[in-house]
Amino acid sequence: MASRGALIFRQLFDRTCCGYSYLIGDRAQKVALLIDPVLEQVDRDLKLVEQLGLELRYVLNTHVHADHITGSGLIKNRLNLENNSKVISIISKSSGAQADICAEDGQVIDCGLIKLNVSFTPGHTNGCMSLIDHDNKRAFTGDTLFIRGCGRTDFQEGSSSKLYDSVHSRLFILPDDYNVYPAHDYNGQLTSTIGEEKKFNPRLSKSREEFIQIMENLNLDYPKMMDVAVPKNMICGGT
Ligand SMILES: [Fe+2]
Repeated sequence: MASRGALIFRQLFDRTCCGYSYLIGDRAQKVALLIDPVLEQVDRDLKLVEQLGLELRYVLNTHVHADHITGSGLIKNRLNLENNSKVISIISKSSGAQADICAEDGQVIDCGLIKLNVSFTPGHTNGCMSLIDHDNKRAFTGDTLFIRGCGRTDFQEGSSSKLYDSVHSRLFILPDDYNVYPAHDYNGQLTSTIGEEKKFNPRLSKSREEFIQIMENLNLDYPKMMDVAVPKNMICGGT
C-alpha cells in the first residue's frame, strides 16, 4: 500500500478549458502516470516530469473530451520516438476510442506503488471512466462528477439517467472522506469529498427525476472545440 508520502501528486490546470490534469509519481521507483493531459500543456507537463526525475509510464484519458485535444498523442511522440521511452496510452474500452490499452471495468492500472481502479461511469459520454486510488482515498471523476456539478449529458451518447446512476452506484458508495478530483472546474475550486458532494451537489443530491429535469433544461451552447477535438481524441491525440 502506498502511503501518502510515497507518492508525488500534482494537480495541473489549463486556463483555456478550465481542465485539470493529474500527475502521480512513485517517489522511490521514479515511475509516473498522467491523467487527462492537455495538448497545449505538454511542454509544461514533460518539463515537470523531467525535473522531478520521473519516468512517465502511462497517459490516461477519462473519456473522449470534446473541449480540448488530449496531450497523450504528442507526449507519446515526444517520449517514445525521441526519447526511446515506452509510454502507454489508456482509455476505456467502452469509449470505442483507440489506445494502447482499452481498459475494462474493474481493471487495475499498476504503476510502481500507484494503483488505480477503473470504474466505468457512463453518462457524460458513454465511455466515461473514473479512476479510484483506494490507498490514498482519491477519486478521479473526469466529467462525471464535478465540484458541486457534473458534466453535461446532451452529446456524445450522453444520458442524464445513466450519469445519475453512475454517480450513485459507483461514486457515492465510496467512503465520505475520499477526495474528488474532477477533470474540470469553472469556479476556482480544486477538490471536494464524496461526503460533501452527496450533501451539497445541487444536482446530484436531488432525486433521479429532478436531476433529469435539471439536465434537460440547461440550454448550453454547442462546444466550440467539439468538431476538432472529438476525432483527434478518438485516437488519443494520434499514435
Ligand atoms: Fe468532457
